[in-house]
Amino acid sequence: MTWAYPNPASKGNNFAFNRVFVDNNMSIGEMGHEMHAEKVIESYEELVSYLHGEVGPAELTNNDAADLPYSDGTVQSIVIDPPYYSSVMYAELSDFFYVWEREYLKDVYPNFFSDKLTNKEDEAVANSERFDNVAGGDSSKKELANEHYENKMADIFSELYRVLEPGGVMTVMFTHKETDAWDTLTKSLIKSGFTITSTHPITSEMPIRAGMRQSASADSTLILVGRKPIEDESTDADIPCLWNDVKTDTRTTAKEAARNLLKSGLTLTKTDVIISAFGPTLRVFADAYPVVDDEDNEVPPRRALEEAREAVTQVLVDEYLEAEGIDELDDVTEWYILCWLVHESETFSYDEGHQLGLGIGVDIDDIKRSTKTWRKSRGDISLRSHDDRVQNINEKPEDRSSRIPVNPDDLSFSLALDKVHAAMHVYDVQGESACCDWLRERNFDTDSTFKATLKALLQVLPHDHDDWELARDLAAGRTRDVLDLDFSPNVFADDGDETTQTTLGDH
Ligand SMILES: C[S@@+](CC[C@H](N)C(=O)[O-])C[C@H]1O[C@@H](n2cnc3c(N)ncnc32)[C@H](O)[C@@H]1O
Repeated sequence: MTWAYPNPASKGNNFAFNRVFVDNNMSIGEMGHEMHAEKVIESYEELVSYLHGEVGPAELTNNDAADLPYSDGTVQSIVIDPPYYSSVMYAELSDFFYVWEREYLKDVYPNFFSDKLTNKEDEAVANSERFDNVAGGDSSKKELANEHYENKMADIFSELYRVLEPGGVMTVMFTHKETDAWDTLTKSLIKSGFTITSTHPITSEMPIRAGMRQSASADSTLILVGRKPIEDESTDADIPCLWNDVKTDTRTTAKEAARNLLKSGLTLTKTDVIISAFGPTLRVFADAYPVVDDEDNEVPPRRALEEAREAVTQVLVDEYLEAEGIDELDDVTEWYILCWLVHESETFSYDEGHQLGLGIGVDIDDIKRSTKTWRKSRGDISLRSHDDRVQNINEKPEDRSSRIPVNPDDLSFSLALDKVHAAMHVYDVQGESACCDWLRERNFDTDSTFKATLKALLQVLPHDHDDWELARDLAAGRTRDVLDLDFSPNVFADDGDETTQTTLGDH
């Protein structure tokens, strides 16, 4: 059932009337206020159980995080879940509830409800509407809003650094996987003096939350751990390091972190392995900060993360792919295989697919139209399977859609992926015998790129995917003999239980 109503939690995080799935009624039933209150109390009790000795009453304050009522170096641990640019207008949305809560609670908590509406002045958010009448030289109101957000977050991190005791730990929740987002956050943290020690992917968002259905984004939260150094290490803090040196250390550190994680026995998705390697990588970068290239231009943390992503992908290929000759394949086929390997799903964030492409020299926007290997789906990448890419061989050529890139009548193909996708199609619609003739006519028995692609797809595609079943059929029976395949049984091995992500307890 769907319902149209102005729901602050609906997709878009605004008051627009949208058709959305009905969310639960908070006032009644299992999922209501009572259950949520119980969960808060349960979590609070668990947190308290970690403390040693006498525990006094908790002190609650409602302050701008950039201006805290605590003395220098008095806080042992900080946990922060910051806003992210313009993704949610918290204060504006809160007014909807604030006016009612104020009516009920202003006598109980007079300090929390002294204002008529919520505090928008101090909010860390990039709201361009607030810059409507501000003259900002050449900057647009969006740029001014972003700048406001970045400055505010930098002020918040400096304030947190001030109140944290030396050696104290800060964890930052972070749902954005885009490398640009990491850039701003980590730069701000490093500039405030924090050392970044690790990054952990944690499942925290409910997948059924309104607005997230069918979306590949934000299914796990990343926790970034920073520490305030015990000693003030500011003495050589301003001497820049050369990117070429830092780059080598970055790759080595990322690879080592990935190998250790793979050995650890933790159940991690491959994307999680990449993200977990970001922490140690950023530590190297933060230690070397500021980092400059040969022309003395400052190198952003993003470059280190790009380097780490590429290095870890190599580790994943070595670990999971029994595929000699994969680096001899064309770049597009290699990208397609790596996407399946790393994401284990046909849909994943655009930024991650883009970064993976950059690592092997593919600009995915350039190949989108010509190869039709992927399409955009709600801002994410969705990989196309063979039936989206190959023209119907049973139709007359003049009746086929020219928008479908692969013609199965061709005797040669530009991509190795096209060869295998075309073979899958022929097997599917004309059967084994016709497929044997088709393969023979194209001499695929002596084509190493065909075999390497087929073998890799068998290992990276999920076993319930139609393309996997067709790849398996091609690698068995008479087509196997025609192709002269000698794949080891590992290639067909079960893809195992569904990988579950780590929970906080794993760390
Ligand atoms: C990602 S949300 C945190 C959500 C929270 N963890 C929860 O589960 O409900 C970010 C929060 O930061 C708050 N915020 C924005 N600017 C702030 C500031 N300057 N000081 C303190 N909190 C701020 C927002 O109002 C919002 O509630």
